Amino acid sequence: MRARYDDIADWYEHDFLAAQQGADLLELARLLADLLGPGSGPCLEIGCGTGANAGRLRALGWTPVGLDISWGMLGHASARMPVTQGDAECLPIADGSLAAVVTVLTHTDMPGYPAVLREVSRVLRPGGVFVHLGVHPCFCGGFADRSDPAAIVINPGYRDTQWTTASWTANGLRDKVGATHLPLPDLLNEFLAAGLVLERFGEGGSPTPVLLGMRTRKE
Ligand SMILES: C[S@@+](CC[C@H](N)C(=O)[O-])C[C@H]1O[C@@H](n2cnc3c(N)ncnc32)[C@H](O)[C@@H]1O
Repeated sequence: MRARYDDIADWYEHDFLAAQQGADLLELARLLADLLGPGSGPCLEIGCGTGANAGRLRALGWTPVGLDISWGMLGHASARMPVTQGDAECLPIADGSLAAVVTVLTHTDMPGYPAVLREVSRVLRPGGVFVHLGVHPCFCGGFADRSDPAAIVINPGYRDTQWTTASWTANGLRDKVGATHLPLPDLLNEFLAAGLVLERFGEGGSPTPVLLGMRTRKE
Protein backbone atom coordinates (compact mmCIF):
# COMPACT_ATOMS: atom_id res chain seq x y z
CA MET A 1 0.00 0.00 0.00
CA ARG A 2 1.29 3.46 -0.90
CA ALA A 3 0.79 6.19 1.68
CA ARG A 4 -0.64 9.48 0.41
CA TYR A 5 2.63 11.32 1.03
CA ASP A 6 4.73 8.82 -0.94
CA ASP A 7 3.87 10.58 -4.18
CA ILE A 8 4.81 14.04 -2.91
CA ALA A 9 7.76 13.24 -0.63
CA ASP A 10 10.37 14.67 -3.02
CA TRP A 11 8.22 17.76 -3.66
CA TYR A 12 7.79 18.22 0.12
CA GLU A 13 11.54 18.04 0.70
CA HIS A 14 12.86 19.92 -2.34
CA ASP A 15 10.06 22.42 -3.11
CA PHE A 16 7.61 22.89 -0.24
CA LEU A 17 10.13 23.10 2.62
CA ALA A 18 12.92 24.55 0.45
CA ALA A 19 10.65 27.44 -0.58
CA GLN A 20 10.72 28.58 3.04
CA GLN A 21 14.51 29.05 2.68
CA GLY A 22 15.13 28.07 6.27
CA ALA A 23 12.70 30.66 7.63
CA ASP A 24 10.64 29.33 10.53
CA LEU A 25 7.42 31.01 9.39
CA LEU A 26 5.24 28.96 11.72
CA GLU A 27 7.53 29.63 14.71
CA LEU A 28 7.99 25.93 15.32
CA ALA A 29 11.30 26.35 17.17
CA ARG A 30 9.80 28.90 19.56
CA LEU A 31 6.72 26.76 20.19
CA LEU A 32 8.74 23.60 20.79
CA ALA A 33 10.99 25.49 23.20
CA ASP A 34 7.98 26.92 25.05
CA LEU A 35 5.73 23.86 25.09
CA LEU A 36 8.19 20.94 25.17
CA GLY A 37 11.22 22.67 26.60
CA PRO A 38 14.67 21.26 27.24
CA GLY A 39 15.09 17.62 28.11
CA SER A 40 17.09 14.50 27.45
CA GLY A 41 16.38 10.99 26.25
CA PRO A 42 14.19 9.87 23.37
CA CYS A 43 11.43 12.10 22.03
CA LEU A 44 9.12 10.36 19.56
CA GLU A 45 7.90 12.50 16.67
CA ILE A 46 4.70 11.02 15.23
CA GLY A 47 4.27 11.79 11.53
CA CYS A 48 7.86 12.98 11.31
CA GLY A 49 7.67 13.40 7.53
CA THR A 50 11.06 14.26 6.06
CA GLY A 51 12.55 14.93 9.50
CA ALA A 52 12.35 18.71 9.36
CA ASN A 53 11.93 18.96 13.14
CA ALA A 54 14.83 16.69 14.13
CA GLY A 55 17.26 19.60 14.53
CA ARG A 56 14.76 21.59 16.58
CA LEU A 57 14.30 18.68 19.02
CA ARG A 58 18.05 18.07 19.20
CA ALA A 59 18.65 21.75 19.94
CA LEU A 60 16.52 21.29 23.08
CA GLY A 61 18.63 18.33 24.21
CA TRP A 62 16.22 15.56 23.18
CA THR A 63 17.13 12.56 21.01
CA PRO A 64 14.54 12.60 18.20
CA VAL A 65 13.08 9.33 16.93
CA GLY A 66 10.66 9.52 14.01
CA LEU A 67 7.65 7.47 13.01
CA ASP A 68 5.72 7.93 9.77
CA ILE A 69 3.40 5.89 7.58
CA SER A 70 5.10 7.04 4.35
CA TRP A 71 8.25 5.26 3.24
CA GLY A 72 8.83 8.12 0.79
CA MET A 73 8.91 10.72 3.57
CA LEU A 74 11.05 8.46 5.76
CA GLY A 75 13.59 8.17 2.93
CA HIS A 76 14.45 11.80 3.63
CA ALA A 77 13.96 11.68 7.41
CA SER A 78 16.38 8.79 7.89
CA ALA A 79 19.27 11.15 7.12
CA ARG A 80 18.20 13.31 10.08
CA MET A 81 17.16 10.89 12.82
CA PRO A 82 16.49 7.21 13.54
CA VAL A 83 13.09 6.37 12.06
CA THR A 84 10.55 3.60 11.86
CA GLN A 85 7.61 3.05 9.53
CA GLY A 86 4.23 2.63 11.19
CA ASP A 87 0.68 3.83 11.61
CA ALA A 88 0.18 6.34 14.41
CA GLU A 89 -3.12 4.64 15.20
CA CYS A 90 -1.21 1.51 16.23
CA LEU A 91 2.19 2.54 17.61
CA PRO A 92 4.82 -0.23 17.74
CA ILE A 93 5.85 0.92 21.22
CA ALA A 94 5.39 -0.57 24.69
CA ASP A 95 2.89 0.85 27.17
CA GLY A 96 4.16 3.59 29.47
CA SER A 97 7.64 3.70 27.95
CA LEU A 98 8.16 7.29 26.79
CA ALA A 99 8.64 10.61 28.61
CA ALA A 100 8.05 12.80 25.54
CA VAL A 101 6.08 12.60 22.30
CA VAL A 102 5.49 15.39 19.78
CA THR A 103 3.61 15.78 16.53
CA VAL A 104 3.89 18.67 14.09
CA LEU A 105 1.35 19.50 11.38
CA THR A 106 -0.21 16.07 11.25
CA HIS A 107 -3.69 15.95 12.77
CA THR A 108 -5.34 17.28 9.59
CA ASP A 109 -3.67 14.35 7.79
CA MET A 110 -5.08 11.84 10.27
CA PRO A 111 -8.84 11.30 10.17
CA GLY A 112 -8.31 8.85 13.03
CA TYR A 113 -6.63 11.44 15.27
CA PRO A 114 -8.74 10.47 18.32
CA ALA A 115 -7.26 6.96 18.04
CA VAL A 116 -3.77 8.47 17.67
CA LEU A 117 -4.29 10.40 20.92
CA ARG A 118 -5.30 7.21 22.70
CA GLU A 119 -2.11 5.57 21.43
CA VAL A 120 -0.02 8.53 22.61
CA SER A 121 -1.62 8.22 26.04
CA ARG A 122 -0.89 4.48 26.09
CA VAL A 123 2.84 4.82 25.29
CA LEU A 124 3.51 7.78 27.61
CA ARG A 125 4.71 7.26 31.16
CA PRO A 126 2.51 8.78 33.85
CA GLY A 127 3.58 12.44 33.89
CA GLY A 128 4.94 12.18 30.33
CA VAL A 129 4.41 15.08 27.94
CA PHE A 130 2.73 15.19 24.54
CA VAL A 131 3.13 18.35 22.46
CA HIS A 132 0.71 18.86 19.58
CA LEU A 133 1.54 21.56 17.00
CA GLY A 134 -1.21 21.48 14.39
CA VAL A 135 -3.05 23.55 11.82
CA HIS A 136 -5.11 26.09 13.77
CA PRO A 137 -8.71 24.81 13.78
CA CYS A 138 -10.07 28.36 13.52
CA PHE A 139 -8.02 29.25 10.42
CA CYS A 140 -7.86 25.92 8.58
CA GLY A 141 -7.08 26.14 4.84
CA GLY A 142 -10.24 24.28 3.86
CA PHE A 143 -12.31 27.35 4.71
CA ALA A 144 -9.85 30.14 5.55
CA ASP A 145 -8.74 31.81 2.32
CA ARG A 146 -5.24 33.25 2.80
CA SER A 147 -4.88 34.71 -0.71
CA ASP A 148 -4.33 38.05 0.98
CA PRO A 149 -2.42 37.29 4.20
CA ALA A 150 -3.42 40.67 5.61
CA ALA A 151 -7.16 40.04 5.15
CA ILE A 152 -8.00 36.37 5.59
CA VAL A 153 -11.51 35.43 4.50
CA ILE A 154 -13.30 32.86 6.66
CA ASN A 155 -15.72 31.00 4.41
CA PRO A 156 -18.38 28.54 5.62
CA GLY A 157 -16.84 25.14 6.45
CA TYR A 158 -15.61 25.39 10.06
CA ARG A 159 -18.09 22.71 11.12
CA ASP A 160 -17.39 20.48 8.11
CA THR A 161 -15.06 17.69 9.24
CA GLN A 162 -15.00 15.80 5.96
CA TRP A 163 -11.81 15.00 4.09
CA THR A 164 -11.33 17.54 1.30
CA THR A 165 -8.81 18.69 -1.26
CA ALA A 166 -10.55 22.06 -1.53
CA SER A 167 -7.97 24.78 -0.98
CA TRP A 168 -7.40 28.44 -1.70
CA THR A 169 -3.95 27.64 -3.12
CA ALA A 170 -2.44 25.13 -5.57
CA ASN A 171 0.96 25.49 -3.88
CA GLY A 172 0.10 23.79 -0.60
CA LEU A 173 -0.50 20.30 0.75
CA ARG A 174 -4.28 20.20 1.00
CA ASP A 175 -4.90 20.32 -2.76
CA LYS A 176 -2.44 17.42 -3.26
CA VAL A 177 -3.14 14.97 -0.44
CA GLY A 178 -6.38 16.32 1.05
CA ALA A 179 -6.99 17.12 4.68
CA THR A 180 -9.57 16.83 7.39
CA HIS A 181 -10.37 19.12 10.29
CA LEU A 182 -11.84 19.12 13.80
CA PRO A 183 -13.59 22.19 15.21
CA LEU A 184 -11.73 23.51 18.26
CA PRO A 185 -13.97 22.07 21.01
CA ASP A 186 -14.01 18.65 19.34
CA LEU A 187 -10.21 18.64 19.10
CA LEU A 188 -9.76 19.68 22.75
CA ASN A 189 -12.34 17.15 23.95
CA GLU A 190 -10.45 14.33 22.20
CA PHE A 191 -7.34 15.08 24.27
CA LEU A 192 -9.40 14.89 27.46
CA ALA A 193 -11.07 11.66 26.32
CA ALA A 194 -7.62 10.14 25.80
CA GLY A 195 -6.55 11.00 29.36
CA LEU A 196 -4.26 13.85 28.32
CA VAL A 197 -4.46 16.90 30.55
CA LEU A 198 -4.26 20.26 28.74
CA GLU A 199 -1.45 22.28 30.28
CA ARG A 200 -0.19 25.10 28.08
CA PHE A 201 -1.00 26.71 24.70
CA GLY A 202 0.63 28.73 21.96
CA GLU A 203 0.05 29.98 18.41
CA GLY A 204 2.45 30.32 15.50
CA GLY A 205 2.46 32.32 12.26
CA SER A 206 1.40 35.88 11.65
CA PRO A 207 -0.41 38.16 11.28
CA THR A 208 -3.18 35.57 11.73
CA PRO A 209 -1.97 32.34 13.33
CA VAL A 210 -1.54 29.28 11.13
CA LEU A 211 -0.84 26.90 13.95
CA LEU A 212 -2.20 26.03 17.40
CA GLY A 213 0.16 24.39 19.88
CA MET A 214 -0.65 22.55 23.09
CA ARG A 215 1.33 20.86 25.83
CA THR A 216 -0.60 17.99 27.37
CA ARG A 217 0.38 15.55 30.08
CA LYS A 218 -0.49 11.94 30.75
CA GLU A 219 -2.40 11.69 34.01
C1 LIG B 1 2.24 17.63 6.74
S1 LIG B 1 3.29 16.26 6.99
C2 LIG B 1 4.22 16.83 8.42
C3 LIG B 1 5.60 16.24 8.46
C4 LIG B 1 6.51 16.80 9.57
N1 LIG B 1 5.95 16.58 10.88
C5 LIG B 1 6.82 18.27 9.35
O1 LIG B 1 6.57 19.07 10.29
O2 LIG B 1 7.36 18.60 8.29
C6 LIG B 1 2.21 15.01 7.69
C7 LIG B 1 2.89 13.66 7.88
O3 LIG B 1 2.00 12.78 8.60
C8 LIG B 1 2.19 11.48 8.07
N2 LIG B 1 1.03 10.62 8.41
C9 LIG B 1 -0.24 10.75 7.98
N3 LIG B 1 -1.02 9.79 8.52
C10 LIG B 1 -0.22 9.03 9.31
C11 LIG B 1 -0.43 7.90 10.15
N4 LIG B 1 -1.64 7.34 10.27
N5 LIG B 1 0.61 7.41 10.84
C12 LIG B 1 1.85 7.96 10.74
N6 LIG B 1 2.11 9.03 9.96
C13 LIG B 1 1.10 9.57 9.25
C14 LIG B 1 2.35 11.71 6.58
O4 LIG B 1 2.90 10.60 5.92
C15 LIG B 1 3.23 12.96 6.58
O5 LIG B 1 4.59 12.64 6.54
